[in-house]
Amino acid sequence: MRLREWTMEEQEQLIHFMTTNTWPFHGNSNPAREIIEKTIEEGGYESDEVKTFWVENDEQVKVGIVKVFDLQDEIPLFDLRIADSYRGHGYGPSALKKVAEYVFSLPEKKIRVEGHTRQDNFAMRKTFERAGFVKEGHLRKAWFSPKESSYYDAITYGITREDFFEGTTTPVMWDDSQSNEPVKNKNHVSLLDFPDSFESKRLLIRAPKVEDATMVWESIVASHKALKTWMPWAQQLPKVEETTENIRQAVADFITRKDLRLHIFLKETGEYIGSTGFHRINWDVPKLEIGYWLDSRYEGKGYMTEAADRLTEFAFDELSARRVEIRCDTDNVRSRAIAERLNFTLEGILKQESMSADGQFVRDTCIYAKIK
Ligand SMILES: CC(C)(COP(=O)(O)OP(=O)(O)OC[C@H]1O[C@@H](n2cnc3c(N)ncnc32)[C@H](O)[C@@H]1OP(=O)(O)O)[C@@H](O)C(=O)NCCC(=O)NCCS
Repeated sequence: MRLREWTMEEQEQLIHFMTTNTWPFHGNSNPAREIIEKTIEEGGYESDEVKTFWVENDEQVKVGIVKVFDLQDEIPLFDLRIADSYRGHGYGPSALKKVAEYVFSLPEKKIRVEGHTRQDNFAMRKTFERAGFVKEGHLRKAWFSPKESSYYDAITYGITREDFFEGTTTPVMWDDSQSNEPVKNKNHVSLLDFPDSFESKRLLIRAPKVEDATMVWESIVASHKALKTWMPWAQQLPKVEETTENIRQAVADFITRKDLRLHIFLKETGEYIGSTGFHRINWDVPKLEIGYWLDSRYEGKGYMTEAADRLTEFAFDELSARRVEIRCDTDNVRSRAIAERLNFTLEGILKQESMSADGQFVRDTCIYAKIK
């Protein structure tokens, strides 16, 4: 099938084609010879604005005609007509694809082709869809039928240059009353105000301070054997300067709300006993993950369960969290016990999700969560 440009010499064939077929969805369903003649004379089939093509099948039979108009505009329109006896054989969609091909090959690089049809012209609507056009508008009572003196709904279809060349059909995003701009600072994260210190029955939990460095480093040294099993960062014993630098970064991250590390102290003695905090924060939800490690010298007293319980409460009440997660290695029974004691739900075990702390083995990860 191909489109072949119509020329003035073929005036009679055009008149014959237009007057011997019926056009039930056009304003004039049986145009008279005089009207076609007049239109030709006025350049309605051939001009700077209009080009007309025969739709010829592989046997070179003229099965239809298509007029492409508004060619001086960036967005040309068209009128496609298949002869009565050739309708229902797939010529419409093939012809429309050729129309798009013609328009997009023009040197002016047209940005789109569009067409309108009556709501009940289902053959034409299918034709649009088969040719990769997307429905872009449904205009109620926008199509006047002079014969019936009544209004029909009109449907608009279009194909963009990008879709045509990439072979894609990008649907219209109908739910567009919200801006498409990425949501920035939805919760005004940098302004989000919350206490940087809070308490539980036995514990004081607060934002890190650079002065904490020595205490924290001593704790790491004392707990190194236990930490090494589960913490990638504890594979080598850090120098005190490295711990200081790390805490300085944690202080900065706390201020900018990027990550909220928290240090845990016994209320009674003021001793530092471990670290916890909110990590992998997504303030849009908001959701976050609680992480923790306890100084080995303070194990077995329920301190970390108490801290994680208080952090969960703080996340929901002060940070408006909708989801709090605890993630740990499937083999880390002590960490799992904390999540389970606090009635977190085990939502899943992600297989081969991470590497062991020493980077030697692929490990599975438990995802526990509480939601609000
Ligand atoms: C509209 C027109 C161009 C379609 O061309 P066509 O060669 O007849 O199209 P097809 O035979 O390939 O039919 C296209 C699809 O519509 C379907 N179709 C045809 N008539 C239908 C009807 N009355 N109801 C529902 N679907 C119909 C076909 O089954 C086919 O679907 P498929 O691809 O799933 O098989 C042609 O029928 C025509 O010239 N009609 C008169 C002029 C006109 O209305 N032009 C549009 C002006 S806006």
